[in-house]
Amino acid sequence: MMQMSRLLAGAWCVLLCAGAAAALRVGVGIADVTGPPAEIAFMGYANFEQLGQGIHLRQFSRAFVFEDDAGSKLVFVSVDAAMMGNGVRQEVIKRLQKRYGDTYSEKNVIVSGTHTHSTPGGFLQDFLFDLPILGFVRETYFAYITGIYKSIVIAHSRLRSARMEYGEVEVLDANINRSPTSYLKNPPEERAKYKYDVDKTLVQVKFLSPTNEVIGAINWFAVHPTSMNNTNRLISSDNVGYASLLMEKALNGNNTLPGKGSIVCAFASTNLGDVSPNTRGPRCERSRARCDQAELRCPGDHEKCFASGPGVDMFDSTRIIATKLFEGAMKVLNQPGEDITAGPVAMVHQFVSMPDEEVHPYDPLTETFNMSASVGGCAPAMGYSFAAGTTDGPGAFDFRQGATSGNRLWDAVRDLLAPPPAADVRCHAPKPILLPTGRIKFPYSWQPTVVSCSAFRVGRLVGAAVPGEFTTMAGRRLRALLRRVAGAAARVVVAGLSNVYADYITTYEEYQAQRYEAASTIYGPHTLSIYLNKYQELAEALINGGGVSPGPEPADLSGRLVTLVPPVMWDAAPWGREFGDCVRQPQPRHLAGDTVAASFVSGHPRNSIRHGRSYANIERLVSEQDDAWTVVATDADWQTKYIWRRNSKILGTSYSDIEWEIPAGTPPGTYRIHHYGSYKYILGGIYPYHGFSDSFEVT
Ligand SMILES: *[C@@H]1O[C@H](CO)[C@@H](O)[C@H](O)[C@H]1NC(C)=O
Ligand SMILES: *[C@@H]1O[C@H](CO)[C@@H](O)[C@H](O)[C@H]1NC(C)=O
Ligand SMILES: *[C@@H]1O[C@H](CO)[C@@H](O)[C@H](O)[C@H]1NC(C)=O
Repeated sequence: MMQMSRLLAGAWCVLLCAGAAAALRVGVGIADVTGPPAEIAFMGYANFEQLGQGIHLRQFSRAFVFEDDAGSKLVFVSVDAAMMGNGVRQEVIKRLQKRYGDTYSEKNVIVSGTHTHSTPGGFLQDFLFDLPILGFVRETYFAYITGIYKSIVIAHSRLRSARMEYGEVEVLDANINRSPTSYLKNPPEERAKYKYDVDKTLVQVKFLSPTNEVIGAINWFAVHPTSMNNTNRLISSDNVGYASLLMEKALNGNNTLPGKGSIVCAFASTNLGDVSPNTRGPRCERSRARCDQAELRCPGDHEKCFASGPGVDMFDSTRIIATKLFEGAMKVLNQPGEDITAGPVAMVHQFVSMPDEEVHPYDPLTETFNMSASVGGCAPAMGYSFAAGTTDGPGAFDFRQGATSGNRLWDAVRDLLAPPPAADVRCHAPKPILLPTGRIKFPYSWQPTVVSCSAFRVGRLVGAAVPGEFTTMAGRRLRALLRRVAGAAARVVVAGLSNVYADYITTYEEYQAQRYEAASTIYGPHTLSIYLNKYQELAEALINGGGVSPGPEPADLSGRLVTLVPPVMWDAAPWGREFGDCVRQPQPRHLAGDTVAASFVSGHPRNSIRHGRSYANIERLVSEQDDAWTVVATDADWQTKYIWRRNSKILGTSYSDIEWEIPAGTPPGTYRIHHYGSYKYILGGIYPYHGFSDSFEVT
């Protein structure tokens, strides 16, 4: 059997990698990238009021470095972020080049966001994306740069011989299509090839040492990390992030703290554009009646229509979806996979100016390009349905309800919006243009015109890293194309939300329905055709050799970014108190399943981001004599919540509330809650403090 698969891999290699039976080296690394935990708006739902208030799950960057025996390297990073931006990626590459010379460049580094909607924003450079955040946020930007860089450095330092195995499993009841009426616009012959209107297959590549120990794994499953909804104020990596934590804990040992183990497991984004985890589907908020899919309206228009489920609340839903993904991934991990190690490590990258592309349109029935027709891209623009939002999060810029007040930045630019030029109106039809983002230049670019496209391979794994959210069918077309170019032995993936963020990509047919995803397909009806042409060209260069031109560099906006996010002013402890004083003590006795809580006099958590550390630790007494305590949970654990509460802005007083839900199986003993922070002194300077609660017994 073993020999057979080796023979097959060898045969494939003769065909596709010119006989080079490459030995693979793999390194994995993980680092904290958590953004500022309070007062910064979250990225994703574009809800001005969704400001951070603490941490449920910390954000991590998970890096995988690959090297073949010719020394060719590739970096794949999956980061708990809403998406990735060119600015962050370029800064990471700059730092890598300072350390490693020209080993890493934009030609071999892919950074893919998981698309969690519960993390601080402000790290993208294009103006539209920072608008709901009150502009650019340096703290978020540098949290990503330092953490992503660090995860790659760790992975690089741990490069070792490895094999790579591929496996799949169907995960049911974890995702639904949130625009099923758009999906139905695709040709019936094409739809007939697929059982579901979303992809249910979890794809996994796992990396094994020569002695078959697991080094790490990358899982791809199409789902929006929007189990946490737009009322959530705690930083969270959502369903896919929690699935990673569960898998890493299971493999590194149950006492390993989040982000600390040597085995790294990513759940990376793919063609999740129209895919929701809210499996109960859209319902009216109070009456719980099903609401109209197409219009997202409830009878009488008196209540909101949004999707939720499958749990009793958003935390429960996150847990359920994460557990399904984790269990599916463990099943694949524990089965022998298909060895796909043989073959080189390579990547082909190009920057593409989307409005300037002229291509032949893709015909889904013949799966070819129509060589007798020619279509092009448009200057970026957002359609009206974009403002209505989705069932996962209604209303991005809800003009109808006038919910634009309270954001000074939005108010300042709203009046500058010009009507779109006639050529754009024609180009984007049937999309009615709400925001001609490609034409507004104040204060600088609103959406990218230049995107990053890459095709990569590691042995027989062949992937396309795409700069946005492909819908289910758009992703299926892209994967089919990769398979045609790379051959039947290739195992193909689409790595979503990579390197640059250029919104959604629907099929031409879905575009006609102009729901949210189509309204956010910013280069017009032929956006997907342009990408398919481009990825065909890149994949051919990847497989057959031969380079491609680098393309135009995206504009560097880093010198011009506007921010209205106020800095931390100062902190003060209330009269008669010190920072770190515990002002609400836990109950003295608890059982597993209880939630323990304590409150502390606090500084602003933005004073120090505490990467790789914690604002809130749960400690168990290990030696009374030595007063020695061991950390059993941090603020990155599922069971803890760190909540920061402003008491008086003028006085500068605030509190940190810390909760711990005692997990089943917690050993009986003496425990305490330990809070760490920093305060900003009114006359300047930032000083660390800490404090702990009275101890309590778990029995
Ligand atoms: C972790 O805990 C689970 C459930 O309690 C158990 O099945 C598993 O074997 C444990 N893993 C390790 C590595 O100890
Ligand atoms: C968000 O989830 C909470 C439950 O955790 C629910 O009460 C609330 O209505 C949901 N809101 C939206 C807009 O989904
Ligand atoms: C290809 O495009 C031409 C020109 O637009 C059109 O007439 C023809 O019907 C198209 N062919 C197919 C197979 O769709």
